[in-house]
Amino acid sequence: MREITVTINGKPTSATVSPRLLLSDFLRQDIGLTGTHVGCEHGYCGSCTVHVDGASTRSCLTLAVQVAGRAVDTVESLAPDGEALHPIQQAFQDCHGLQCGFCTPGLLMSVAELAGTNPECGRAEIREHLAGNICRCTGYHQIVDAVERALVALREAQVDG
Ligand code: FES
Ligand code: FES
Repeated sequence: MREITVTINGKPTSATVSPRLLLSDFLRQDIGLTGTHVGCEHGYCGSCTVHVDGASTRSCLTLAVQVAGRAVDTVESLAPDGEALHPIQQAFQDCHGLQCGFCTPGLLMSVAELAGTNPECGRAEIREHLAGNICRCTGYHQIVDAVERALVALREAQVDG
């Protein structure tokens, strides 16, 4: 077993973990952050996407010990008080960018990365950025609509702020 300390959603967290424990299982089972979904468990679907030091990362392909000393942000970080939706979440709701919602946490985290790295991108770049996030039910048109709306809302919030 290994002792690790990870900053999870801004909070330093210490734990004793098996060297083989996946980050996805660590977050869901040990920490209780079940917003991160696990679909394929093989790195294909993107539903398990979290941020490690700000970069989108497949938590099903990452070991918990690999994030020792690093910052992990999960979908729960988007609306930490559990009340007001983050602008990206609001845009997904407004544009009907989800149905069953299984893929949504991973998509939201990929979009959050895009908002930080390429906030003025167009539809083609949005589609390219989200190519690793598979949605089985909504289709991608509404998702891209939602991302466009979210990026506008975030830019406007920056101007207003
Ligand atoms: S569960 Fe990790 S990529 Fe599918
Ligand atoms: S909304 Fe069901 S998989 Fe995407």
